Amino acid sequence: MKRDFLDLSSLTAAELDGLLRLAMRLKAELKSGLEHPYLRGRTLAMIFQKPSLRTRITFETGMAQLGGHAIYLAPQDIGIGERESAKDVARNLSRWVDLIMIRTFAHATCVELAREAAVPVINGLTDLLHPCQLLADLLTLRERLGALRKLKIAFVGDGFNLANSWIEAATMAHFELRVACPAGYDPELSFQSRLRNLQGGLLTHDPVAAVRDADVVYTDTWTSMGQEREAAKRRRDFKDFQVNRALMGHARPEAVVMHCLPAHRGEEITDEVIDGPFSVVLDQAENRLHAQKAVMVWLLRPEILTHQAPAANDSL
Ligand code: CP
Ligand code: NVA
Repeated sequence: MKRDFLDLSSLTAAELDGLLRLAMRLKAELKSGLEHPYLRGRTLAMIFQKPSLRTRITFETGMAQLGGHAIYLAPQDIGIGERESAKDVARNLSRWVDLIMIRTFAHATCVELAREAAVPVINGLTDLLHPCQLLADLLTLRERLGALRKLKIAFVGDGFNLANSWIEAATMAHFELRVACPAGYDPELSFQSRLRNLQGGLLTHDPVAAVRDADVVYTDTWTSMGQEREAAKRRRDFKDFQVNRALMGHARPEAVVMHCLPAHRGEEITDEVIDGPFSVVLDQAENRLHAQKAVMVWLLRPEILTHQAPAANDSL
């Protein structure tokens, strides 16, 4: 049966661990000039219904480094659900390409595409989840801080796709997660209850309570793609949720600062914090490449993941 990568929750802990280790290996090979053309002759179709810098470049570059080829389909090209149904797009693409990536609005579109496609589908961001980002973020934390389960992580901002994905990640990797959102911007109810059921899970409207003694402070834009008309109201509603030097003063002194980017400097994060010594935002961006290469290899050549040497110890 084909697998898809639509969320983190569908992975087993061993698969998540295996993906992180494969990403680390691919990264080390790339840095030492070793080629790894595992996907020679394979084609990835990338459907974008929203803009992108990181996701588009890292999938396209990653596929080239793996010996394959990627095709970019811009928002105006396909018109899923308008020019043609998701079902028909999925069934046509499946006749030509080996893999599909989609960035879209409704998560249901991504699920429908995966259901109808004969080839694996990767979620490159929906309004619900951004699992490729989280895989890169977990890779970044593993490299920098080691075992994930020992960490206290604070997410400050909108209870939207990134917050939901952090809740998924905490469910899998068992770190302490505190989520601080303004009232009215909490994650949807199913994610709230998943967070509450986690040991060390906290949902609060107080950013200081979330950040206190945290090892990691993460934020995201106040106005996500598709919400542009709400920007002025959101700037008012989120004004006390800026990640700045004062808020970072409540975290551990060497706390790592993370942001998925693009950043709106002076809104959710200040220049001095995002450009400061503990910011890892460019490592996160770089790791999108390595993490997604691991996902593509896993989906098309699963034996490469299963045949990896077992972990010396549980890397989650
Ligand atoms: N973080 C992220 O997904 O960036 P893009 O929107 O530029 O792809
Ligand atoms: N929450 C943001 C993430 C961008 C990578 C958005 O959906 O626009």
